[in-house]
Amino acid sequence: MAAQRNFTTLLLHLPKQLNAMRSYHKSSIYVHWPYCTKLCTYCNFNKYLSAKGDDVEMQKCLVLELETMIRLTQTEEIHSVYFGGGTPSLAGPDTVVAILNSLAQLCNVPADVEISLEANPSEWHKFQDFKLAGINRLSIGLQCLVDRDLLLFNRSHSRECGLKALETGRGLFPGRTSVDVLFGRPSQTLESWREELKEITKACDSHVSLYELTVEQGTPLARSVKNGTVMLPNEDLVADMYLTALQELSRNNIHRYEVSNFAVSGSECVHNMHYWQGGEYIGIGPGAHSRISLPANRSQRLAVVHTPEPKRWMKQVLAYGCGTAKSEHLSSKARIKELIMTMLRTRQGMLYTVLDGLFPGYSSSAHDLFRQSDTISGLVEENLLQLDERGLRATDAGLNVVDSIVCDVFDCQDQAYDS
Ligand SMILES: C[S@@+](CC[C@H](N)C(=O)[O-])C[C@H]1O[C@@H](n2cnc3c(N)ncnc32)[C@H](O)[C@@H]1O
Ligand code: SF4
Repeated sequence: MAAQRNFTTLLLHLPKQLNAMRSYHKSSIYVHWPYCTKLCTYCNFNKYLSAKGDDVEMQKCLVLELETMIRLTQTEEIHSVYFGGGTPSLAGPDTVVAILNSLAQLCNVPADVEISLEANPSEWHKFQDFKLAGINRLSIGLQCLVDRDLLLFNRSHSRECGLKALETGRGLFPGRTSVDVLFGRPSQTLESWREELKEITKACDSHVSLYELTVEQGTPLARSVKNGTVMLPNEDLVADMYLTALQELSRNNIHRYEVSNFAVSGSECVHNMHYWQGGEYIGIGPGAHSRISLPANRSQRLAVVHTPEPKRWMKQVLAYGCGTAKSEHLSSKARIKELIMTMLRTRQGMLYTVLDGLFPGYSSSAHDLFRQSDTISGLVEENLLQLDERGLRATDAGLNVVDSIVCDVFDCQDQAYDS
């Protein structure tokens, strides 16, 4: 009798248990807000000058495109959400609410899901409202603490404003406030950088994204460098600046988990890790990129680029529900190349568990290939790479020169495809 009752209980609970075991189709969401109040001299992102920027129309179109993409991909659960730009902190918090409400109606949004917002320091007075709207992680575009450089870059904030934003951010989002910092700036010296880093680490919270200033073609900065009105530090000095930052940040328990990203343990950006490990994401908004799969074939990945210019994008969304400029199927070779590039830049490196999940059986052939490669063995001997049953990863020394290592691993992988 007892045995029969147990069996009946089991049957009663089976559908629920199966449901719990079922894996939902998950995706991250990236929302692109394309407007900025000032254009920075170094920037070549998809951004447009506008004080406010079609708030109502933009919000309506973002929600429409989100609904289309969620339905198309039959996404059932959200992994993370990221509002980027442009300057998404210029959008009203009601835009954040509209998007999160729409997401909650369409699929499962776990209570603890990471929801990040890129914020310009001059918007610090809106941080509290963004928190109320549902944002739980902030990425502040501090860039530096030197007024002369902020002016030169045409940033909309001052050093004082940057510090105020940091203080407000870490008060509202403790353990979940990040800062973007640029190095290799005009007239920066190693000594001034060290002093600035000390101030930044004292003021910052738990995460730093550290970027070497890149001179992008067609920007005002590129013109100033070309005509000699702006001088940038030489390559060796810039490399020393990176190493100095590495030391200074790790002294403050802010450790490198990706070449440009440093965090206190537990404060790593969930959204970016998802990108770097080949996770699916739906991008919405002008110029956003998506990496999605369709229900008919989950193992195939589609790369979608959305129309960059906001007015044209809105027209398309209103007409078709989606502002797609281009979409293409990615070959496995292209996907693996992309993954080598992003995963090798992380401390974890190329984890076989992750790669086997995306390409069943990957590790059994890749591991032999790596072991037999003279190039990989050479890099292991030089203490730049480590290879074991968990995968292939760059050492601390390797992460400092990771771009050249990535090329060698590409070559090794190419041989496998060519043979
Ligand atoms: C997507 S952007 C936009 C963030 C936000 N609009 C802002 O500027 O504060 C994210 C970060 O990329 C970095 N970035 C932009 N242009 C760069 C360049 N030319 N070289 C290096 N880093 C750059 C900046 O640190 C910036 O905060
Ligand atoms: S605020 Fe950000 S997106 Fe806008 S121009 Fe400056 S760097 Fe580019």
